[in-house]
Amino acid sequence: MHISIKEAAQHIHNGGVVAIPTETVYGLAAALDQPNAINQVFELKGRPSNNPLIIHVPDVASVMKFVKKVPRDFELLVTAFWPGPLTVVLPVDTTKIPERARAGLPTAAFRVPNHSVALELLKLTGPLVMPSANLSGRPSATHPEHVEADFGSEFPVLDGGSCACGLESTIVHFNGERWQVIRQGAIAPEEFLPFFGYLPKVIQKVGSNPICPGQLYRHYAPKAKLTLSKSATLLKGVIVGFSDRAYPAAECVFSIGSSSKPEEVAEKLYAVLRQLDQENIEAATIDIQFPYSGLWATIHERLKKAAS
Ligand code: TXA
Ligand code: MG
Repeated sequence: MHISIKEAAQHIHNGGVVAIPTETVYGLAAALDQPNAINQVFELKGRPSNNPLIIHVPDVASVMKFVKKVPRDFELLVTAFWPGPLTVVLPVDTTKIPERARAGLPTAAFRVPNHSVALELLKLTGPLVMPSANLSGRPSATHPEHVEADFGSEFPVLDGGSCACGLESTIVHFNGERWQVIRQGAIAPEEFLPFFGYLPKVIQKVGSNPICPGQLYRHYAPKAKLTLSKSATLLKGVIVGFSDRAYPAAECVFSIGSSSKPEEVAEKLYAVLRQLDQENIEAATIDIQFPYSGLWATIHERLKKAAS
């Protein structure tokens, strides 16, 4: 059910949950100060309770009242990348953020989305917790139709069309010495180099503890069984491949865009994974003959998770 910005704000104010567009993926939004709505977000998604939510705010100033200690280069970082697909994990005053939203951690994740509809809504509502608007484990939603496929046609959605990035935000934290990427996303680590003077490491765990709890879980997966292949151009069957490559033995090809345009592939990726389910495809091979640098690295990571 499509709703207006005003209706979305009213619904959120009344303790409801609505899906809203951002430049990365659609989010399932609830007010930070509505504990029942936050519970609903976990229930709707089937999300494990140890997986914290990102707090979305309209500007940097709105983050400051929650933060305990501002890490070195934080201002530099957010001046460059906010509004945008960057999420920053910061130590917070835990009395100011519901325990459920941060899954009991002493930190919280913040993002200012770069989407006019999301920003307009945030200015009306204040901080919103917002996981991706998909059932846990499924590919994220990059179009209102995807939200409806997961939550039903009666679910309130603020329609912002297709999401321009198509991949979730990059999540970073400061480990006391350096910034690190704890979830790869729409911003490649190379893009931080000019601001920090070093390439932030991509890390998953400290010892056996995952830094980003969400990375523990199966993700981004359609129902179809996926196989990744660097020689997909030779294979039979259903292929997920590039528009500028030939797959002469394939039964059918789902295109994820041009092999020279990672932005185009990022934008289409989840829609194509969801299309496999819509067309009842049981198994498909994905062409992963592409570089490991820049945005391609995030695409590799998502496909690996989708196929795992
Ligand atoms: O692009 C995005 O980030 C989208 C849009 C809607 O903004 N949101 C999104 O949310 O991807 P979600 O819930 O699907 O993923 C949030 C990730 C999870 O992996 C979670 O574990 C991590 O953020 N996270 C949240 N708070 C954290 C914290 N305090 N420390 C470490 N990781 C955290
Ligand atoms: Mg998600």
